[in-house]
Amino acid sequence: MSRMRAVGILSTGSCVPERVLTNADLEKMVDTSDEWIVTRTGIRERRICSADEASSDLAYQAAVKALEKANVTADELDLIIVATITPDTLFPSTACLLQERLGAKRAAAMDVSAACTGFLYGIATASQFIATGLYRYVLVVGVETLSKITDYKDRNTCVLFGDGAGAALLGPVPSGFGFQAFDLGADGSGGPLLQLPAGGSRIPASHESVENRLHYIAMAGREVFKFAVRVMSSATEAVLAKAGVSKEEIDLLVPHQANLRIIEAAIKRFGLSEDKVVVNLDRYGNMSSASIPVALDEALAAGRINEGDTVVLVGFGGGLTWGASLLKWTFQRL
Ligand code: UT7
Repeated sequence: MSRMRAVGILSTGSCVPERVLTNADLEKMVDTSDEWIVTRTGIRERRICSADEASSDLAYQAAVKALEKANVTADELDLIIVATITPDTLFPSTACLLQERLGAKRAAAMDVSAACTGFLYGIATASQFIATGLYRYVLVVGVETLSKITDYKDRNTCVLFGDGAGAALLGPVPSGFGFQAFDLGADGSGGPLLQLPAGGSRIPASHESVENRLHYIAMAGREVFKFAVRVMSSATEAVLAKAGVSKEEIDLLVPHQANLRIIEAAIKRFGLSEDKVVVNLDRYGNMSSASIPVALDEALAAGRINEGDTVVLVGFGGGLTWGASLLKWTFQRL
């Protein structure tokens, strides 16, 4: 371990589509109300991309911002990881599309599929390549265009999701800073609770699959809710223990933005004041793998993170999957 390099997040960038879909708009589409959505989820509006926008378009905008902030050029990138469940196409990967668009000629490229936990799986994977010295700069992008797989006739799901992208450039940082611990997990037995049933090799696209609306997100909300509350706590506790940090030392918690009630349960559990928790789901809804990097980018832009701060990222999602990471933040780099 002593020969491993310290790895941190050098910069971030984000992008959300212009079009806003409000709760009032949804009231006209399904049998719901602003009051139900706000009290049950905390969401007030979300961003939705246009018919000709795809995930790689949002990913590109977020990536360019992250690279510019770090003053790193695309041809310095060694690896691009895109975390998404809404790739432009099943293959080639969205990471390859992004590599081409950025002109990152030296970079290897791959997608990671861990639903809403995708960004955490992505940064955990990326950091290994840098820690070992194999790579120097790895770009990780969490991007989703969930509006493309959301059934706007299903009130159980359509009020929840939004589109967006968040990028993070990872690289070496001074010893003692950067990532201190990761905790990743999966429970495949819960897969059916949150899934996109068709479009893969089990149920390829057919007239029947389209008629049966199997190309849309299907979710057992209440079960996922209970799982989420449980793993938000256990994953956070796991990274605190691995890093040898107490909950009182958390300066900023950046949780996955699925439901305000899930976040509030974590706030209560860890005795955090509201200024120590990033919440933006009121404006964006659940952007799956993009939620955490967009929230992190906004927190940095608002000056909510200082040198040496203890920052915890935590999320959960389809798979079922969960993950957390604890960083000692630095604005320095090697
Ligand atoms: O990123 C990971 C992915 N997903 C999640 O994290 C989601 C986790 N789950 C949740 O956030 C919540 O379970 C929901 C917000 C999805 C639902 O909230 P809930 O408090 O668990 O409600 P429920 O599913 O138990 O439904 C309560 C009632 C039902 O009516 P009945 O059966 O009691 O008559 C639903 O049909 O609310 C009804 N309902 C709605 N009513 C108005 C469900 N969706 C809506 C809606 N508007 N949009």
